[in-house]
Amino acid sequence: MANEKQSFFSHQTLEKNIGLMIVCSIIVVLFAGLVQIVPLFFQHSLTKPTAGVEPYDPLRLMGRDLYIREGCVGCHSQQIRMLRAEVQRYGSYSLAGESVFDRPFLWGSKRTGPDLARVGERYSDEWHRVHLRNPRSVVPESNMPGYPWLAQRQLTDTDIKDRMHALRILGVPYTDAQIESAPAALKGKTEEDAMIAYLQGLGTGVRKAAQAAQTSPSSAGAK
Ligand code: HEC
Repeated sequence: MANEKQSFFSHQTLEKNIGLMIVCSIIVVLFAGLVQIVPLFFQHSLTKPTAGVEPYDPLRLMGRDLYIREGCVGCHSQQIRMLRAEVQRYGSYSLAGESVFDRPFLWGSKRTGPDLARVGERYSDEWHRVHLRNPRSVVPESNMPGYPWLAQRQLTDTDIKDRMHALRILGVPYTDAQIESAPAALKGKTEEDAMIAYLQGLGTGVRKAAQAAQTSPSSAGAK
């Protein structure tokens, strides 16, 4: 063994030279990562919105930002997995194309509370109002904190246009007219209104598109 002539490209060169081994390992891992990741950018089911999914209107967009500010994602996921128990409890499993306008995405990884990906229209606005102010008044065993201040704060936010502009740069197709009329859509609304609008929209677009496709298969096929 020891007398065998070693070419530079033998595996032993690699095993005996830890620096070279590290560099080669990094190259292999980088390449393997790229092979997994790069094709995803070109897969339409992941990069194009699923039928029925629209960019957030200004009120929902504010609600989403409040959801981030208040840390709701620390207790609630928004991703229904392809498991029978989850689909039975929450509704049809989440699709990547439902999150294309979510920047950052809010799939979450912690479920102290239930998944919210399809909570839209499950409860009335009034239920949400009562629940957000004091969860225990509708769910006595709840350990969710109350968010009573949301109802007291007006959305005097004037940077909604900047928020929409920033999202447009990232690829959300807001029109100039939509951005111009955004502040008017927030007039007289509270943070609580925005949060409820956001919650009531979660998962509903896809559900409605699927229902429409079921009732008129020919028109859905034409799309
Ligand atoms: C400390 C963890 C925690 C945080 C933070 C939290 N929640 Fe909850 N949430 C829960 C738990 C537990 C439940 C189930 C009991 C209940 O309905 O109150 C719940 C239930 C809900 C429900 C009803 C879901 C259903 O399907 O019945 C909604 C909607 C909701 N939360 C929204 C929010 C929003 C919006 C925020 C942020 C403003 C938030 N939660 C923050 C723990 C949390």
